[in-house]
Amino acid sequence: MLVIFVFGFLFSLTVDKVSGVKEDYYWRDYDGTIPDDAVVGGQSFGHDIFIGQAYIRDEGVFPVTINPGVIEVAVPIKGVKRTDKYVKILCGPPANFQWVPANVTNLHVVLLNKHAVFGGHEDSKGYVYIGKSTTKGGTQIGKIDAFALGDAKFFYASKDSENNLSVYDILCYADFGQKLDKRETLIPQMTPKDQQNI
Ligand SMILES: *[C@@H]1O[C@H](CO)[C@@H](O)[C@H](O)[C@H]1NC(C)=O
Ligand SMILES: *[C@@H]1O[C@H](CO)[C@@H](O)[C@H](O)[C@H]1NC(C)=O
Repeated sequence: MLVIFVFGFLFSLTVDKVSGVKEDYYWRDYDGTIPDDAVVGGQSFGHDIFIGQAYIRDEGVFPVTINPGVIEVAVPIKGVKRTDKYVKILCGPPANFQWVPANVTNLHVVLLNKHAVFGGHEDSKGYVYIGKSTTKGGTQIGKIDAFALGDAKFFYASKDSENNLSVYDILCYADFGQKLDKRETLIPQMTPKDQQNI
């Protein structure tokens, strides 16, 4: 009886661990309705906002703010570009996401041993991360350029202008040591020398 109990206990631990490892995030097509497992990015004017991704021809794929019920999004790239096509929404287990404070000079240090969620890519430049900042108008989701060490700014669309900030939060994911996204290795890696220089 005791043996069965102990075995059952060990088995449940194993299952928990395995299911934890398997959990992942993904981008669903966004049609104006918010899926149950969409990741809340913050609040704006008393309602939740969500994390989107939009494609702009000849520019790339970028993180954006999604307002529930509004299909059109404002994309921070060479000013503000608006689109309601090819918009996706980030979904996954909420407990595994974490917003980590970072800034223009220390981002690459902050990301050592962390898994930042990829937000898209800027054509001919590289991959971008997902950033957020909370201003008077509420939470803004946008892109973080991490192409150059020590120069990682956050860009977001505000009305008709593209703004940038030096201090922001970056979206990270607890991946339990699994490399969920192989593109991780394409981001400039810090050497000990780089760390001394920052
Ligand atoms: C970024 O954060 C570091 C501390 O982690 C600080 O020393 C540095 O001054 C900050 N830079 C900016 C631009 O805020
Ligand atoms: C960031 O914003 C400032 C204005 O606040 C602007 O002068 C500057 O050109 C912007 N930088 C980039 C890289 O867009």
